[in-house]
Amino acid sequence: MHDCGQIVVGVVQASGLPFIRPRQAGGLHHTINPYKIPPLMQVDIVREPDLARIDHLFILLAEGPLADDDVPKSVHKFVSGAGFSGRSEEVITLLWAEKRKVTLIGLGKRDALSLRGVRSAIATAGRTAKKHRDPHICLALPYTLPGLDAEQTTLFVADHLSQSDYKYDPYITVKKDQKRIAIDAKVIAPLTVDKKRVKQLSAMARGLTDAITTVRDLGNTPSNIMTPERLAERAAEVSKAAGVKCTVYGKREIERMKMGGLIAVNRGSDLEPRFVVMEYAPRGAKKHVALVGKGITFDSGGISIKPAEKMEEMKFDMCGAAAVIGIMEAAARLELPVKLTGIFAATENLPSGSAYKPGEIITMMSGKTVEIVNTDAEGRMILGDALHYASKLEPDHLLDYATLTGACVVALGNEAAGLFSNDDELARKLIEAGERTGERLWRLPAWDDYKELIRSEWADMKNSGGRWGGAISAAVFLKEFVDCPSWAHLDIAGTAYAESENSREARGANGAGVRVTIELLRSLSRS
Ligand code: BES
Ligand code: MN
Ligand code: ZN
Repeated sequence: MHDCGQIVVGVVQASGLPFIRPRQAGGLHHTINPYKIPPLMQVDIVREPDLARIDHLFILLAEGPLADDDVPKSVHKFVSGAGFSGRSEEVITLLWAEKRKVTLIGLGKRDALSLRGVRSAIATAGRTAKKHRDPHICLALPYTLPGLDAEQTTLFVADHLSQSDYKYDPYITVKKDQKRIAIDAKVIAPLTVDKKRVKQLSAMARGLTDAITTVRDLGNTPSNIMTPERLAERAAEVSKAAGVKCTVYGKREIERMKMGGLIAVNRGSDLEPRFVVMEYAPRGAKKHVALVGKGITFDSGGISIKPAEKMEEMKFDMCGAAAVIGIMEAAARLELPVKLTGIFAATENLPSGSAYKPGEIITMMSGKTVEIVNTDAEGRMILGDALHYASKLEPDHLLDYATLTGACVVALGNEAAGLFSNDDELARKLIEAGERTGERLWRLPAWDDYKELIRSEWADMKNSGGRWGGAISAAVFLKEFVDCPSWAHLDIAGTAYAESENSREARGANGAGVRVTIELLRSLSRS
């Protein structure tokens, strides 16, 4: 047993609690990772690149004739001479000068450009550069994307380009590509972007991309390493680096706070739970937004055990918590003028002799009682307590992120996250932010009419409403613990990770929730 006193890392609390470093745990669950994760592509935004120093220039082009300033003059004749039409997914690599290449990537119809289509083209550029082992590349997109201005377009390109060579391979002991190099990339900003802004934009893109990388690494790390304790420790480390206050609560404090849902789910696990609160409070902030994440580091289903097939994907069941950590990191790095409280509850969900069982009645932190009918509906149990805790802080807006239901994946697949909200205005802003970032949200209802589904004969409610409308009954359950007039729940079960590599991204966690929320926070701070 370790000592689980309150651990404060980062800025020491006003109450003057001492800095206590969490103890290094031993045992099988904590094999130390001996391999370093290599750095991602380094991306800078520039106005006029020094083309003489570029090994490989990538130009993303739509169909139709070229305008004079669409591409650098020196490559004009190559583009027109190559018979390149700009069809979507068309790729041509040409020798432009000795040892220097130009790759043209088609985007399809000019008036039908989509953020997701452009993301695929950017990913193609990144993958090609990696294959060719070109250390210095440059990327140009001579258009502004729909709904975005020139700056936003440039940020979008820089962000996705730096994520394009992401791969999680610290446990591959003999790397396939032994000669893997760190790629240095320049993204050409349109001349309308001010010279001074270019530097700021580079820093912003880097802040965002570092946060996305944090989330992807957290999600991809196997569950024997990314334990609740380690997840909390990572939150503290990230917070410290970003200048965010972080408080980690151990089992004793969780019990003292009477977080019945978190304690119940944790009973089946040999590892202790964690409850983490991160605070970013910039001067002059007018709004306070609380963020809550689901941190199930492995979801076996518990006594209501899941089938073996794909159970390994349940290491991703902490992607909501990872998103919260990433949003805090990004917001702090970008110095967004909004006060944020990031909260997550972390535990494993496992069967054992002490695990919580169907038929048990659990008293939650809020005092409400829940009849357990399915131990695999564990996310809502830990979120119920976390949402109650967050509501007590009386934030202006309360957002939660959770890989909550398979039903949401049945409904929306992998192209959109489920959105549930009690505030039409917030829902609208979130959907719009999703459109501007290519991270789509689709709203489903959380009407009280659905409460019937979780009615219990024995307790205030039961923890599962069955198969029909499963994503909705889960949201309606969460709503029972929300006391905030502006709440939104994002079910990211289908969007938080890719089951296999696709045209836009590598297999595994992808940082879902971060970009859309950062964009929302920007729009909130503008209004
Ligand atoms: N973590 C799962 C949801 C999930 C499923 C995420 C597939 C990603 C991919 C969640 O804890 C769960 O098991 N939900 C149950 C709820 C049911 C028992 C009411 C589900 O969706 O089957
Ligand atoms: Mn589950
Ligand atoms: Zn789960």
